Amino acid sequence: MNGEGRPEKLRAQNVSVRFEKDEKSFLAVDDVSLSIQEGEFVVIVGPSGCGKTTFMNTFAGLVRPAKGKVYMDGEEIIGPSAERGVVFQQFALFPWKTVAENIEFGLKYRGIPKGQRDEIVKKYISLIKLEGFEKSYPHELSGGMKQRVAIARVYANRPQVLLMDEPFGALDAQTRTIMQEDLSEMFLTEKRTVLFITHSVDEAIYLGDRVVIMTARPGKIKKIIPISRDNLIPNRRQMRYDDVVNLKEFLDLKGDVWGMIKAEILEKHIL
Ligand SMILES: Nc1ncnc2c1ncn2[C@@H]1O[C@H](COP(=O)(O)OP(=O)(O)OP(=O)(O)O)[C@@H](O)[C@H]1O
Ligand SMILES: [Mg+2]
Repeated sequence: MNGEGRPEKLRAQNVSVRFEKDEKSFLAVDDVSLSIQEGEFVVIVGPSGCGKTTFMNTFAGLVRPAKGKVYMDGEEIIGPSAERGVVFQQFALFPWKTVAENIEFGLKYRGIPKGQRDEIVKKYISLIKLEGFEKSYPHELSGGMKQRVAIARVYANRPQVLLMDEPFGALDAQTRTIMQEDLSEMFLTEKRTVLFITHSVDEAIYLGDRVVIMTARPGKIKKIIPISRDNLIPNRRQMRYDDVVNLKEFLDLKGDVWGMIKAEILEKHIL
């Protein structure tokens, strides 16, 4: 809870994850606890390899914690669910299906009638600005286009929770800005709970209700910045990306967040 009285949607309780390397086990995530409210947008930033994807994958039900538990609506997560849509760091499309068929896949699986499916597919193709590419196959698309299809496929299923792992990392700057604005707007209208990973401090501050900064490996939470609760950037959600990133409040926060990440990288000699 962050004091606004909305129910808790996701919770990690003392989560640690171990992996094996060269027959030794090492700690990738170290005792992380985090509670995310329904309708909240939480962004994780931290040095490369610190365990961000691994931590998110525990919520996806793809990685089991060695210690601790993860919950959705108070129930322990023990595997993947259609209610938690995942946008992976790498494009994950079916290469043998067209753009429209990729977006339609989950809807078909859930038994949604053809007419309704076509309408939803049309809406999301227009949102990702790929009209005219409905019948194209993934290998005929650029990297940015593929990632937009992957995002549309997850949005189209309207999951309660969106788990997004650097979803805009492979996009060019212009498309990225448009997708950030669209996501921010969709977040306001559709009110879904989002956990989002990025390397971009700008993106984190523009999108996040809270920004969670992780330490270098093994990942722990270093600091949480409650941007919305403390109203650190007034009216941000009603503003265009380019306007927000030039505000003094934004630049101050950016300096703070980047300073913390840099300190982690330098202290632990990652570079
Ligand atoms: N399935 C796995 N088996 C073994 N080691 C793994 C596995 N997945 C991740 N790791 C290791 O765990 C650590 C954390 O990886 P993770 O992918 O979670 O980091 P990350 O913070 O997402 O990094 P990046 O910012 O580069 O995406 C890394 O040292 C990585 O090599
Ligand atoms: Mg990652």
